[in-house]
Amino acid sequence: MKLLVTGGAGFIGSAFVRLAVKNRWASRLINLDKLTYAGNLENLISIEKDPGYRFVHGDICDSALVRLVLEEERPDAIVHFAAESHVDRSILGPAAFVETNVRGTFALLEAARALKTPRFLHVSTDEVYGSIDEPDDADEAYPLKPSSPYSASKAGSDLLALSYVTTFKLPVVVTRASNNYGPFQFPEKLIPLMISNAMDDKPLPIYGDGMQIRDWLFVEDHCRAIWAALNHGQVGEIYNIGGSRALPNREVVQLILAQLDKPLSLMTPVTDRPGHDRRYAITTEKIEQATGWHAEVPFEQGLAETIQWYRENRAWTARVKSGEYLGYYENNYSHR
Ligand code: NAD
Ligand code: TYD
Repeated sequence: MKLLVTGGAGFIGSAFVRLAVKNRWASRLINLDKLTYAGNLENLISIEKDPGYRFVHGDICDSALVRLVLEEERPDAIVHFAAESHVDRSILGPAAFVETNVRGTFALLEAARALKTPRFLHVSTDEVYGSIDEPDDADEAYPLKPSSPYSASKAGSDLLALSYVTTFKLPVVVTRASNNYGPFQFPEKLIPLMISNAMDDKPLPIYGDGMQIRDWLFVEDHCRAIWAALNHGQVGEIYNIGGSRALPNREVVQLILAQLDKPLSLMTPVTDRPGHDRRYAITTEKIEQATGWHAEVPFEQGLAETIQWYRENRAWTARVKSGEYLGYYENNYSHR
């Protein structure tokens, strides 16, 4: 299979590319990435010399470029990760989210339609369902009620992608995953931010009461699920992907502090995020039954591996926490 991956220099995309090359999922893999603040070619050093791999530096919103790459490569499938992905940044500046997540997905769908790409997997998120009250768990038919510009832009792109199945018969599959964690995650998201701040004995900012609930999914489990959905998912269907491990944020941070042997006093309550979703919870029976996939990595094991990776890769973290990151950190945290 010849695969075109978008956003393959980011956290999840790069994990997918590393696994795809290692497991020979594709004979040729093209990675189209704009290298925003979140894109990092260091994440791909282990596979960049593979003869089947090609990197294209470009923007998915650039219709002419996207079309050219598809014409040159004629991939059997597109796996579309590229997005602006962080809720707090979507509150500070929503424009890039509408641009990349909605207009960029549109440009990609149009090119895939023109070139009759045989398969298009659109990577989405459980955040499109919004906050879910107990005792509900959202299945794939649950109403969409996104709360942030990030999740609204993802819901918009999901609907656009699905409309291409109905109207143009483009063979699209949509996946919606819960919160990912693992090595190479940019330290703006909860787990890598807390690990790296704790390692530096810096305060750990806890939004509101810290009792918001997230379901945690190890990034490689997510990538395996995407691969399973790409191969065995039905066209026009949506598949939730979760780790079946729901925890309040406080508990996650306490586990991190315990593993790093750091004091709980580093936890610092700060003003809550506007529109903060209280609870995410999804069912995953559909993908399990359709593909045989199930999450393999228990949270404690995945977290230990992740912490170990950040311990061993302090230079990577120091590099991504310089430059642009400092301005973001100041903007997002100094007034709280
Ligand atoms: P990330 O922010 O780490 O990486 C995003 C990648 O996309 C970067 O390499 C960036 O350079 C690239 N990119 C951004 N705009 C682009 C553009 N206009 N053109 C080309 N490339 C562009 O994101 P991530 O956490 O790896 O998330 C990947 C996908 O998975 C996203 O679609 C996200 O919505 C979805 N998702 C993420 C999570 C999570 O917990 N992180 C959970 C569920 C779904
Ligand atoms: P995040 O990793 O941003 O993912 P999402 O908001 O997309 O679920 O945040 C996970 C949870 O952690 C969320 O409830 C917000 C909370 N959080 C904090 O309490 N402090 C922080 O500094 C960050 C980044 C997140």
